[in-house]
Amino acid sequence: MSPSRTCSWLIVLSVLLVCTTANGDRLKVGYYDKTCPDVQQIVQSVMAFRVGRDQSVAPAVLRLFFHDCFVDGCDGSVLLDETPFFESEKDATPNANSLHGFDVIDEIKSYVEHACPATVSCADILALASRDAVALLGGPSWKVQLGRKDSRVANRTGAEYGLPAPNSTLAELINLFKQYDLDARDMAALSGAHTIGTARCHHYRDRVYGYNGEGGADIDPSFAELRRQTCQSAYDAPAPFDEQTPMRFDNAYYRDLVGRRGLLTSDQALYGYGGPLDHLVKMYSTNGEAFAKDFAKAIVKMGKIPPPHGMQGEIRLSCSKINR
Ligand code: HEM
Ligand SMILES: *[C@@H]1O[C@H](CO)[C@@H](O)[C@H](O)[C@H]1NC(C)=O
Ligand SMILES: *[C@@H]1O[C@H](CO)[C@@H](O)[C@H](O)[C@H]1NC(C)=O
Repeated sequence: MSPSRTCSWLIVLSVLLVCTTANGDRLKVGYYDKTCPDVQQIVQSVMAFRVGRDQSVAPAVLRLFFHDCFVDGCDGSVLLDETPFFESEKDATPNANSLHGFDVIDEIKSYVEHACPATVSCADILALASRDAVALLGGPSWKVQLGRKDSRVANRTGAEYGLPAPNSTLAELINLFKQYDLDARDMAALSGAHTIGTARCHHYRDRVYGYNGEGGADIDPSFAELRRQTCQSAYDAPAPFDEQTPMRFDNAYYRDLVGRRGLLTSDQALYGYGGPLDHLVKMYSTNGEAFAKDFAKAIVKMGKIPPPHGMQGEIRLSCSKINR
């Protein structure tokens, strides 16, 4: 190649580079390669230990990440305790008494602070821990983009209105996720996270009792009966989202939906009404690899939801408190 052609190529390349950076793609997989090379290893080993001792840690952490990203972006705001200056997100309706795993994030943070003080954000730790949570239960893995900053404030209002409800309709779900640049396919794949973990009776009561006490038309009668028994066993008894493999990150969630055995109204909303996602749900129910691939792609996208423009961030020293 002649020097002048090389030169013009260089110009094209640098223009491209400038454009991609200006585009706000500020996260990088290798963000801590120099400043905290062991961070991924530290997160992974704490997660492996804690999930090995108690598998329910994995769904808890994954849900924390989702609830973090949907409120002012992935900025660790969900981890903050209440202060006299702002209300925490922890007590908002979708979160109250149902978020867990804060202690695991705190434990990881303490090891990470020891290895590389004041370097790695809590938001990034949550993103890494979620990847490990899914992989530890047999799900897909992916490269985690890093470089998030932690917020200096929580947003109770954002948590009240920015998260989906267990009785959301399909149209509501599609519209809500769209606000975060996640399309219907991303939404359908991300919902597959409900292949692990549990929900409490007050979240599925309406679905299994229905208006006549026998469950709605879109529910398998034996499943409705089974879950009514769970509800009777204890006030607010938890039930697994996926009764077959409750702690395996597989595509069984979609087989449940096809069998009209989705636990929440919002789960079943994805399938069975002749709606636009029926075909996709059916495909995921038979093709676990396609689901795994789409889930990984969609959660990377979810992890890029940015904080509001101009929001000031920091590297929190303790994940439950802003720095002084
Ligand atoms: C599509 C709309 C969604 C709705 C309406 C919804 C709603 C819920 C509800 C009501 C619970 C049960 C809480 C309880 O009773 O304690 C739950 C649990 C859970 N959600 Fe979702 N969710 C949605 C999407 C997602 C997404 C996108 C993810 C992650 C990518 C996710 C991850 C989880 C996990 C892992 C659990 C189990 C938590 C545990 O066992 O500790 N959910 N969700
Ligand atoms: C909190 O969330 C609400 C609702 O999403 C949003 O309108 C508001 O701008 C957010 N506040 C801050 C401080 O980010
Ligand atoms: C879901 O439940 C809430 C609270 O009970 C109610 O205000 C809302 O209208 C319901 N939404 C749908 C779509 O049924």
